Amino acid sequence: MFEPVLLKNIDAPDGHLLSTYEAGGGYQALAKVLREHTPDEVVDLVKQSNLRGRGGAGFPTGMKWGFVPKRADKPKYLCCNADEGEPGTFKDRIIMESAPHQLVEGLAVSAYAIGAETAYVYVRGEYVKAIRRLEQAIAEAREKGYLGAGVLGSDFNFTIHIHCGAGAYICGEETAMLESLEGKRAQPRLKPPFPAVAGLYASPTVINNVETLACVPHIVMRGPHWFRAIGPDKSPGPKLYCVSGQVRKPGLYELPMGIPLRELVEHAGGPLPGRRIKAVIPGGVSAPVIAGDGLDVGMDFDSLAAAGSMLGSAGVIVIDDSTCMVKVATRIIEFFHHESCGKCTPCREGLNWVVKVLRRIESGEGAPGDLEQLEKLCKGIFGNTFCALGDGAAMGLRAALTHFRDEFVAHIEERRCPFH
Ligand SMILES: Cc1cc2nc3c(=O)[nH]c(=O)nc-3n(C[C@H](O)[C@H](O)[C@H](O)COP(=O)(O)O)c2cc1C
Ligand code: SF4
Repeated sequence: MFEPVLLKNIDAPDGHLLSTYEAGGGYQALAKVLREHTPDEVVDLVKQSNLRGRGGAGFPTGMKWGFVPKRADKPKYLCCNADEGEPGTFKDRIIMESAPHQLVEGLAVSAYAIGAETAYVYVRGEYVKAIRRLEQAIAEAREKGYLGAGVLGSDFNFTIHIHCGAGAYICGEETAMLESLEGKRAQPRLKPPFPAVAGLYASPTVINNVETLACVPHIVMRGPHWFRAIGPDKSPGPKLYCVSGQVRKPGLYELPMGIPLRELVEHAGGPLPGRRIKAVIPGGVSAPVIAGDGLDVGMDFDSLAAAGSMLGSAGVIVIDDSTCMVKVATRIIEFFHHESCGKCTPCREGLNWVVKVLRRIESGEGAPGDLEQLEKLCKGIFGNTFCALGDGAAMGLRAALTHFRDEFVAHIEERRCPFH
């Protein structure tokens, strides 16, 4: 029987308070690592757990921490990516609003492991309640000695700063986020050097997602084997799935990694009365769509990659047979076009062109050859851009063209949207 840990106190009215968190065993992981473990041992625990980053790419967390140089003549930084700009994704907001101490403790344990004394939490500016709750949690934790100079009487000093974003999706790309934190325009950096070696202020930096960091105290308290026993061995752990769209009970669900997509949709109440599920976007709009006959895929990094998609941010958008896929594809590409930072030509110019063709098809003014044109444009964008925004847009459109080609063709041949 699966036991939720990340959302354990999510419905408690005082779940955001220190007293509630402590009553459920909160901050014992921090006390334990300071008392019993060296920083390297904490890195090893996380490596053994096989925790993979929950922000989108699924990179192994312990391995990322291991890239930070042991000796450095500069301070090391921990940055928490709480930008959560991926459409369909709302898990980090719920953690910060309803259980912020889980993140504060995760930051403290993780900072101890990598040898950082300062952390920045880069929060999406629209998340006002989350920001207030996080500020309150940091103040409470400092008062109790979980943060500040000599945490819990040890020689570990730790400070957390909150930085509010201003509404640009690209700020979630980790190196653009570092630029923004440094007060510059948020545009991705050329890599290498990677942030672990030269990140914030050219210092060794680890960037992790909110959910990734929130898993860390549980791994310390319950052990890496507990974590690894949940879901597939190479992609394990409890997982937050944000289910939205045309289901009866949209919401945030904590379930094992690897659960079949079909079962997840059932948890969310299944399709609306009289409707059939036509497609699911499993990992936020950067993830290629899965057709309705592919719902048996496991919701983990490797299974979804094998099925031609991505777990991404686990923003699961369910689409039923009442919805036009040309409209879905157009709205998604309009989003990417609007959010393109403009640094590289294939993304800036390519998406501009793609949007024009898609809008033409959607309004019934498409021409023969438009679909081949779109495929050519996707080819020109994919693999030729500075960051993964361009890739995500091209992969998503390609998948829509592959699985729902008949709908695109119908728009062009009938010179109208068949769904109206
Ligand atoms: C355009 C773009 C937007 C991104 N937005 C986010 C985001 O909002 N939150 C996030 O955690 N990761 C986001 N990422 C992924 C981050 O670059 C990075 O991989 C992640 O924060 C690393 O944390 P993790 O290893 O814990 O997953 C984005 C990536 C790209 C390319
Ligand atoms: S792919 Fe797009 S968002 Fe990424 S750097 Fe290039 S222009 Fe900017």
